[in-house]
Amino acid sequence: FRRIALGAALAALLPLATPAVAADPIIIKFSHVVAADTPKGKGADHFKQLVEERTQGRVKVEVYPNSTLYKDKEELEALQLGSVQMLAPSLSKFGPLGLKEFEAFDLPFIFPDRNVLARVTEGPVGAGLFRKLESRGIVGLGYWDNGFKSMSANKPLRKTEDLKGLKMRIQSSKVLEGQMRAVGAIPQVMAFSEVYQALQTGVVDGTENTISNYYTQKAHEVQKHLTVSDHGYIGYAVITNKKFWEGLPPDLRATLEKAMQETTRYVNVIAKQENDDALAKIRAAGKTEIITLSAAERDAWRKAMLPVHKEMASRVGAETIAAIAKEAA
Ligand code: LMR
Repeated sequence: FRRIALGAALAALLPLATPAVAADPIIIKFSHVVAADTPKGKGADHFKQLVEERTQGRVKVEVYPNSTLYKDKEELEALQLGSVQMLAPSLSKFGPLGLKEFEAFDLPFIFPDRNVLARVTEGPVGAGLFRKLESRGIVGLGYWDNGFKSMSANKPLRKTEDLKGLKMRIQSSKVLEGQMRAVGAIPQVMAFSEVYQALQTGVVDGTENTISNYYTQKAHEVQKHLTVSDHGYIGYAVITNKKFWEGLPPDLRATLEKAMQETTRYVNVIAKQENDDALAKIRAAGKTEIITLSAAERDAWRKAMLPVHKEMASRVGAETIAAIAKEAA
């Protein structure tokens, strides 16, 4: 009886004894369109883990993969409205916001390798693009890699002539539209979440993407041939709502910034391996012929697609293209 009475007395005292009732945590909804098991998906989960550990309950990061919360177009609108706090859209999806310069990353064969890419995103080009986001109420926090793109269809694509007349799904980028037209294909802009079904039902004949996106969306199950052409690049800008970001307590913002820098390094280290592993899995699944191009064949692809650089110079900015070319030289 005494123990119970003591317990009750302590319990009654408890609210007074606790110095301050912990405030509700700040919630960061991080929405994205790809699977959790991809470079971007793993990055979002890594960021969540670092932030929640280091802020000890003050910040909670809710990750929504696979377009479960928003599809491509809606997610950008939701971020601007403040319904979601963080996204990592591919750099090919900023054109519809009027930020055409981002589409420079879509120019075929512009990046010879990942080192050039890193110099571009970490240098003045990367910083300049992030400055442009501010006028849209957005802050750029980091550039995350995915990798180089392959091209697929239900017929072998060895020469660019093989693409003639095929309906090809692309992201919402005029440069990608130009690239497909340059080889005689018919580009179809479509949300990422709709690609599998469109391929399965024949609404489109083929598509382009990184290998990790092909594998995790099971696109290889509905595409008989996959050409590892590495003709273009997919990477991401991790972005947040400016008002939300600037309204955070400065100590928390600093913790989040550091977690983002570390996550960026993590993603950019794992991205290539993730794509290599995905290729091995597609090969093992045995449903898709994997075509690799000889140096001469790949050079023919480059020649066929290169006119897009000139054609799109006025859209994405000749200076941006020149700045990238300088890093590649
Ligand atoms: C796509 O739409 O194909 C990609 O941007 C998806 C992604 O986010 O990697």
